[in-house]
Amino acid sequence: PQKIILDCDPGHDDAIALMLALASPELEVLGITTVYGNVALERTTHNALVVLEVLGRRVPVHPGADRPLVRERISAEAVHGTSGLAGPPLPTPSQQPQDLHAALFIIEQVERHPGEVALVPVGPLTNLALALRLRPQIAPKIRQIVLMGGSVDLGNWTPSAEFNILADPHAARIVFESGVPLAMMGLNLTHQAIAHPHWVARFRGLGNRAGTFAAELLEFFREHHQKRYGWDGAPIHDACAVAYLVRPELFQTKPLHVAVETNEGLCFGRTVCDYWGVTGKPPNCRVGLRVDPEGFFELLLERIGNH
Ligand code: BDR
Ligand code: CA
Repeated sequence: PQKIILDCDPGHDDAIALMLALASPELEVLGITTVYGNVALERTTHNALVVLEVLGRRVPVHPGADRPLVRERISAEAVHGTSGLAGPPLPTPSQQPQDLHAALFIIEQVERHPGEVALVPVGPLTNLALALRLRPQIAPKIRQIVLMGGSVDLGNWTPSAEFNILADPHAARIVFESGVPLAMMGLNLTHQAIAHPHWVARFRGLGNRAGTFAAELLEFFREHHQKRYGWDGAPIHDACAVAYLVRPELFQTKPLHVAVETNEGLCFGRTVCDYWGVTGKPPNCRVGLRVDPEGFFELLLERIGNH
């Protein structure tokens, strides 16, 4: 199986990403690293442990950055609730977080398994940037980075920028300039993966604890997206990054050059995707363009049903 480290800020869709990763035999989750993002680091770390508790699984959780490199911290309680996982009842975790910082854990694992570890960041990219700056020698040893963030077109936190990239544009720039093989699942793709009520009903119908938990998360997550976008469901952004590793054939991608705007203007945090190759710069990223929503949700259902 592909060794991965899931770097997350749970978060409703992060929780679903975690459930998919831990139920997929194609993947070996070496550990979970947490970052501030949707809510503060203490909460995202707690929430990762909550999800493990729901699943009855033990996986090391390494907390990392509690703030961005340069800019001030932003957060998304408006989308995910004050807990970050609003909706279902949240059990008390029986596991403790690890002492080793997320960035150091990433370095340790990449050096232990050179060329074998895929990093899957689905929150702000601060932990990855810290790891790459602390130990630049790891870059050629990272198999690939498959991230949820950015967009070929519209933003969601500003008209230009997506939340994860806007939360730490400087960290994102370090990652996009790292030379590591990258795949980006941005909003242009994740907005095709909307959990409409008939999908949510099927999660509930799975009848296991994970299925019920997923359904309750998705019901809450839907409300914000209904109000803001008029959509009858929420996009399961983060699970797209994991699904890409499990079932790449569900995705259509295109190699593009992607740069991150770090000037603090209207486009701060934008992923500037050179779709037509007008810059002449070589592609540094496989950019997700299409996902098959049926295939994606059937995969989620099958795997979450197996928990
Ligand atoms: C991203 O922002 C967060 O709110 C979600 O968890 C996802 O990672 C979408 O813009
Ligand atoms: Ca996230």
